[in-house]
Amino acid sequence: MNEAASPEFAPVAKLHQVPQGSGLGVTVGRYEVALFNVAGDIFAIENVCPHQGGPLADGFLEEHYITCPWHAWCFDVRTGKMTLGDFARVPRFEVRVEDDTIFVRSEPCP
Ligand code: FES
Repeated sequence: MNEAASPEFAPVAKLHQVPQGSGLGVTVGRYEVALFNVAGDIFAIENVCPHQGGPLADGFLEEHYITCPWHAWCFDVRTGKMTLGDFARVPRFEVRVEDDTIFVRSEPCP
């Protein structure tokens, strides 16, 4: 994909809105996206659990792992992969932080 056809980055939040060890749900274009702050690094995955749609941003974050608040499926926020097997994955989004603003790419990673 050439750069001109690449999905754009959109500003979605300020850094202080996602304190370390927490998550925040935001909207990026047509996606609901969950931001997570793990020791100062920001990660973004779709805010829709592939089980039954639970809001992952409201889950329990421990290190790089988010546990869905509804039925406790667990995902690695770095990859979107489910920790217990390969049968479910959450789309992941590229993140950039410039000054105190978090930007997320408007389409998930392939
Ligand atoms: S909706 Fe997430 S584990 Fe069921």
